[in-house]
Amino acid sequence: NNSKTWSGRFNEPVSQLVQRYTASVSFDNRLAEYDIQGSLAHARMLASTGIISQADFSAIEQGLGQIREEIRNNNFDWQIELEDVHLNIEKRLTALIGDAGKRLHTARSRNDQVATDIRLYLRASIDEIISLIKSMQQVLLDIAERHSETVMPGFTHLQVAQPVSFGHHLLAYHEMLQRDTERLFDCRKRVNRLPLGAAALAGTSYPIDRDMVAQLLGFDGICRNSLDAVSDRDFAIEFCACAALIMTHLSRFSEELIIWMSPAFSFIQLADRFCTGSSIMPQKKNPDVPELVRGKTGRVNGHLVALLTLMKSQPLAYNKDNQEDKEPLFDAVDTLTDTLRVYTEMLAGITVNQDTLRQAAMKGYATATDLADYLVKKGIPFRDAHEIVAQTVRFAETKHRDLSELTLEELKKFSPVIEEDIYSVLSLEGSMKSRNHPGGTAPEQVRKAISHARQALLDS
Ligand code: ARG
Repeated sequence: NNSKTWSGRFNEPVSQLVQRYTASVSFDNRLAEYDIQGSLAHARMLASTGIISQADFSAIEQGLGQIREEIRNNNFDWQIELEDVHLNIEKRLTALIGDAGKRLHTARSRNDQVATDIRLYLRASIDEIISLIKSMQQVLLDIAERHSETVMPGFTHLQVAQPVSFGHHLLAYHEMLQRDTERLFDCRKRVNRLPLGAAALAGTSYPIDRDMVAQLLGFDGICRNSLDAVSDRDFAIEFCACAALIMTHLSRFSEELIIWMSPAFSFIQLADRFCTGSSIMPQKKNPDVPELVRGKTGRVNGHLVALLTLMKSQPLAYNKDNQEDKEPLFDAVDTLTDTLRVYTEMLAGITVNQDTLRQAAMKGYATATDLADYLVKKGIPFRDAHEIVAQTVRFAETKHRDLSELTLEELKKFSPVIEEDIYSVLSLEGSMKSRNHPGGTAPEQVRKAISHARQALLDS
């Protein structure tokens, strides 16, 4: 059996079971484009430093070009006996161009090759994710703009707390996504370093030019230590942490959409194309998409833990354990990009029930704090004001009325300093408008925040 690259050293072929167990080609073949890109840069450098001839490079370039076409057209015969994407492509190259193909692997190991491929793949994925987040933010800002004046109950402990602008509530998610983007940009800096040149672990005795390869592949620089270059996957772990946080943010948002859509709340409707029915209960319209987002968050969190665990006990330098980095990473990327796509579309189709939001805000004495603040502004110490309002709320509750529905006479029984001007303070809109400082829920501030956010999206 001579199909394997290292067969000369072995007395017997690898067992079928081991072959299947150790092969990664079924999943790492999606790195093919990046593998070819990396090989082309490596070969160009080998030729320019005189390590291989120009003629060899031309043959390699032509051969890899053909292989790329075969793969793109689904015309490539992936073989499990050839273990992984790297050996499959190299074998095919040699079949196509002969000895020049066998020279491609000079001054290189699969260890620095695979690390390079993953980094190229992840860099492209990060760029795509950043642009998907941006699209989602545009949609969020559009809805927030339409609803800067829409009042809703703000919650703490899921109990009505204070009135807030629906637009303001959505902007909270915009902020989370903005930080998520910053994190991705930062992660990208550490992803974007070239491992090639590290070879198996110690570097290589050929007069290579790593900077040239880095430049050809658009890397910001080289990995400075050869052992580190082939062995660490911290950049993938870091990415999964970013992905887990984005999913966590979307999971919280999903939880809210699910609650808001329940008939007991009826704050919003999702478009029918994002819901499913029940096979038994004809009246049901279920928010499957946000529920799945919530569920898939667990899956991405799992990938983060998988990669951390994969790494934690590995001695330097490369170990085969690292082959297990790919499936979690790929699935984290796929799950996240799908989620962002579907979420953006789902948000664009949302209907907001302004009347229900308003009624809900009227229910839980949302302006009680405003009454307390009013008393404080008239000279009453805050702790005393708090107690006065607590008694007023208790009274209003027995009458089944909101604070704003009590007569001035009734209010004055709790504090004589209360005057006619209290009614603008106790209105939902008055309460909202009064929180008029950067970061506050006043519609004026919400509009300012939106135009800031729009400008930031344009600048980035
Ligand atoms: N398929 C391997 C991986 O994904 C490529 C590197 C293999 N290197 C080795 N020395 N066996 O990590």
